[in-house]
Amino acid sequence: MTATSAASAAYIVAGLLFILSLAGLSRHETAKSGNAFGIAGMALALAATVGVATRDISAIGLTLLVVAVVIGAAIGLWRARAVEMTGMPELIALLHSFVGLAAVLVGWNGYLSVEGADPSDGGSTLRGAEAGIHSGEVVIGVFIGAVTFTGSIVAFLKLSARIKSNPLMLPGRNWLNLGALALFAVLTVVFVVEPNLLVLSVVTALALALGWHLVASIGGGDMPVVVSMLNSYSGWAAAASGFLLGNDLLIITGALVGSSGAYLSYIMCKAMNRSFISVIAGGFGNEGSAAASDVDYGEHTEIGAEDVAELLRDADSVVITPGYGMAVAQAQGAVADLTRKLIDRGVQVRFGIHPVAGRLPGHMNVLLAEAKVPYDVVLEMDEINDDLAGTSVVLVIGANDTVNPAAAEDPTSPIAGMPVLRVWEAERVVVFKRSMNTGYAGVQNPLFFRDNSRMLFGDARERVEDILRAL
Ligand code: TAP
Repeated sequence: MTATSAASAAYIVAGLLFILSLAGLSRHETAKSGNAFGIAGMALALAATVGVATRDISAIGLTLLVVAVVIGAAIGLWRARAVEMTGMPELIALLHSFVGLAAVLVGWNGYLSVEGADPSDGGSTLRGAEAGIHSGEVVIGVFIGAVTFTGSIVAFLKLSARIKSNPLMLPGRNWLNLGALALFAVLTVVFVVEPNLLVLSVVTALALALGWHLVASIGGGDMPVVVSMLNSYSGWAAAASGFLLGNDLLIITGALVGSSGAYLSYIMCKAMNRSFISVIAGGFGNEGSAAASDVDYGEHTEIGAEDVAELLRDADSVVITPGYGMAVAQAQGAVADLTRKLIDRGVQVRFGIHPVAGRLPGHMNVLLAEAKVPYDVVLEMDEINDDLAGTSVVLVIGANDTVNPAAAEDPTSPIAGMPVLRVWEAERVVVFKRSMNTGYAGVQNPLFFRDNSRMLFGDARERVEDILRAL
């Protein structure tokens, strides 16, 4: 067997391992084995790629390759160990930006080493249709890569709160996006007919600006979908690089990431009642509604931990709806202890998990599983919503947007139409948070001012521990 056919066989096995990995990751119980398949697939792919490379490159090139892999792996390991769960989405966004940048560099390299090759060295060896296809791969790869690169950087800046998460509302912004796409189509044709440096530079600059604008135009509430959409873009960018480099595995892997990311974005849009087209087109159709923060909702009522313990003592049923604040406070352990204590006292305790609670899909489920809360009391939003009206006490622990009645009741709210946990229907609602500040989407929450709501201020973990002591 030649080295190339051995590499092809390894690529097929790696591709299968990636498919098994995706299948495993789609369910909580099989996620760990999904990860193991992914790691095995990537190790095999890397070994095969380096194996093939050893035939074609010099000793210096090989040394550089190995040094780059070691440095990259060391940084990756360090970041993966250091990152807090709450910092995952911005880390993922940053990693997507690297994929985008790599695709731009691969595209430029493809151009410089083929179409832009020095005529005194013989120039391009590609002719006719082959040359046209190569130019098309270059320009499309650079475009997708550059959109992914700047889009992911804006997502990183928004998610890490380095810039505001409010949508940028340039006048005629949908036309700007459509105009950029139309210009790209024209420039692609020009580049395929007559490849030249100027056109490729303009396409690169256009795509960098478009990526920036697309994500800047999307509001905080839609950021979860944007992260998974950029995941999809990064897959397509990798697939485009695969075509240019003639690497089948990169094409397969890119297509897997691209299509699974697109499907996840679609599922999340459905969960949030958002139009998929509107989100991928940079907030298309979202004409920016008035921020509800100016509205006077009246006074809120505070409560102390001892009084909450009293409420819980008398309760028949309790539903806990956790959110991002539970992750920030690392309150899941204390929440699990409270759950056990209440169950031991004969109270029915269940959890209601909103699909975008926290900062990444499944965030709350992972934290609760870590804290050993039994799976069977952790329910999805749709499974628990109809039961909330008959619940004695709902504990909203560090959640805000996901329990905002304005989404269901106020058509002018920026989060109007997003399905929420209808916690206000319960007999009593206790909201754990540190202040009256808004949640991620930046809108005030009328729940805090309802007659049956009580605010328990302070760090969620400390307050839950206070309640445990009082019980
Ligand atoms: P948010 O709406 O962000 O609200 C979190 C609340 O936790 C805040 O009101 C904050 O209030 C409180 N909090 C923060 N630290 C706390 C602490 N140490 N102790 C007690 N409370 C604390 O969270 P959510 O309800 O989970 O909604 C998620 C939001 O994030 C949605 O808008 C969603 O679209 C967005 N998002 C989701 C994802 C995914 S995929 N899940 C990804 C990116 C963005 P104080 O500051 O007053 O304490």
